[in-house]
Amino acid sequence: MKAWCRKPDPGSPDGQPGWGGAVREGKPSKQALADARASDTCLMNKINLAQKLSLFDDHWNPRIITELNGQYLKLVKFKGPFTWHHHDNEDELFMVVKGRFRMEYRDDSGREQSIWIEQGEMITVPRGVEHRPVADEEAQVLLFEPASTLNTGNVENEFTKKKLAEI
Ligand SMILES: [Fe+2]
Repeated sequence: MKAWCRKPDPGSPDGQPGWGGAVREGKPSKQALADARASDTCLMNKINLAQKLSLFDDHWNPRIITELNGQYLKLVKFKGPFTWHHHDNEDELFMVVKGRFRMEYRDDSGREQSIWIEQGEMITVPRGVEHRPVADEEAQVLLFEPASTLNTGNVENEFTKKKLAEI
């Protein structure tokens, strides 16, 4: 089994392969990519967001659901306030799948601002901008960001997740 290749997911309602809870190990080699292209089991698998979201309940712990062009798509559940941080090198996209949350950020003058992101809406936080999402009720969110992105950016604390599971 190639470490990055999707395993059959017994929890999938339609039998589609998933990551089976595996933690990704390294990047695929050229040979592994060639093997994958020759195999129906590793490419062209659809992803059902609701099904993936049903696989976990905890908050502020993103899961990787797929990868493209050096970027990850992740699913995460927000509840309560996150920690203030910024990312030196990455822009981050947040899209609300279910619920709503408030993105708090500091503008160029350092003044705190906030904007509500409703279900079906998204926002891109540019690199360098101090921000923290806050969810009064649980929000289910899709993240799209470079693979190098640490969830707490320049800060390390109890919210930091250095190794993410793939589902
Ligand atoms: Fe962030």
